[in-house]
Amino acid sequence: MSAVARAVVDLDVVGARISRHLYGHFAEHLGRCIYNGFWVGEGSEIPNVRGIRRDVVDALRALRIPNLRWPGGCFADAYHWRDGIGPRDERPRIANTNWGDVVENNHFGTHEFMDLCDLLGADAYVNGNVGSGTVQEMSEWAEYLTRGDDSPMARLRRENGRDEPWRVPFWGLGNEPWGCGGNMSAEAYAEQARRYAMYSRNHGDNRLVRIAAGANEDDLDWTRALMKGAVESHTNVLYNSLPYEAISFHYYTHSGSGINTEDATAFTDAQFYDTMAYATDIDRVIRGHIAVMDSYDPDRRIDLVCDEWGTWWNAAEGTNPGFLFQQNTVRDALVAGIHFDVFHRHASRLAMANIAQTINVLQAMVLTDGDRMVLTPTYHVFEMNSGHHDARQLSAHLLEAPTTMVGDDELTLVSLSASTSEDAALISLTHMSVDADCRVRVDLRGRAAKLTRARVLTGESATTFNDPDAPDRVAPAPLEAQIEDGVLTAQLPPHSFATFELHLG
Ligand code: AHR
Repeated sequence: MSAVARAVVDLDVVGARISRHLYGHFAEHLGRCIYNGFWVGEGSEIPNVRGIRRDVVDALRALRIPNLRWPGGCFADAYHWRDGIGPRDERPRIANTNWGDVVENNHFGTHEFMDLCDLLGADAYVNGNVGSGTVQEMSEWAEYLTRGDDSPMARLRRENGRDEPWRVPFWGLGNEPWGCGGNMSAEAYAEQARRYAMYSRNHGDNRLVRIAAGANEDDLDWTRALMKGAVESHTNVLYNSLPYEAISFHYYTHSGSGINTEDATAFTDAQFYDTMAYATDIDRVIRGHIAVMDSYDPDRRIDLVCDEWGTWWNAAEGTNPGFLFQQNTVRDALVAGIHFDVFHRHASRLAMANIAQTINVLQAMVLTDGDRMVLTPTYHVFEMNSGHHDARQLSAHLLEAPTTMVGDDELTLVSLSASTSEDAALISLTHMSVDADCRVRVDLRGRAAKLTRARVLTGESATTFNDPDAPDRVAPAPLEAQIEDGVLTAQLPPHSFATFELHLG
């Protein structure tokens, strides 16, 4: 079976910059993400740099990951940063009651996280504790991290072996306060966020982008309360400043019956299409948040951030259900492709996004098994799309594409986006048909273009995944494609993600 899709990309119609931070990551003290993921400890037989696993760092460096959010998630609102500094063998043990109810030794703390960011070349996104921490505790953490003189917290940092302050650009004011982060109403949290933000100071030349913890999916009332809180604070003649520079929201994809209810690798065609529809619906959700934000802040001084996104399936059989370890198939890769197209489209307001989570948890880039490591299909989408980092949007439109019905709604089975930087352009296409090929034809208008590389990512079926015994079942491969008379043509296999790299004349 073969279908046809037609699209237009205007190579000379350039829009907003696509921040590289849309390709951000998230690492929580959850399951095997930090411990036995990033952190193996200096005494481990697994090759490591100061306790941080070397193969994982190398794999992630190749993605040029722009930022890393830590320590949670739900864990952030139970975390007290002073437990994670000083000599490791003197740090207190704590119970991680959110995730698996396990006891951890706090060997991975502030210094180890900042070392990890340095190794990755990533900006730090530190998420503070509003739910169970004090304003003073948050304030002192910012001082400890970023202050250069001999203030009490700067001195304490030096006593722990770090002379220079770190640069911390991103600062989270709690997490999911409507749930695990304190079970608050939107109005109550908006008040708290203003307070905690005020004492999260800029020290020296470090500037914090303070991110208020936002809505679950399309809870626009939550966004409204945060925007109202921000605007009221800004119009208060005594304070007269925006309390936070960004607000977030979270969006987890499943096939419609809820997170944690379905298998990661065994699914029907109907569940596959439900998942594609759910992933596509993030476009509606982002439009909703932006419309509310625009009504309070038409000058767009406050950014939107999606600091948790990705698929959430049942934990793999035989693993601790609280560790959220799941396999990652071609279906997950397509969810990533769809999300990035949507993120690119909203790049003028959406400033950052963080996939949940980088290693061994939910929709991971990397899965480890003892000393072995596997790159997931999702990893390859991040790599294939890395040319979009800090590039500028190009106008890209579908004229014709195959569709299918999902419930009462029609789902378009092709998604695309395009960007340009200097004399290069990158076009990404996600093809969602589970069983048909698609002949694509893209009219390239406005500038002459030469194809430099075309690649495709797919598997024998949408359920195909990589594991240590077959690490390359799903890996990018060259795709037969051509540009003739300004028209790019290619044949996309079923359930595939493709990228086309162009040189512009
Ligand atoms: O990513 C896993 C969890 O999902 C996070 O801790 C929480 O913020 C969300 O509910």
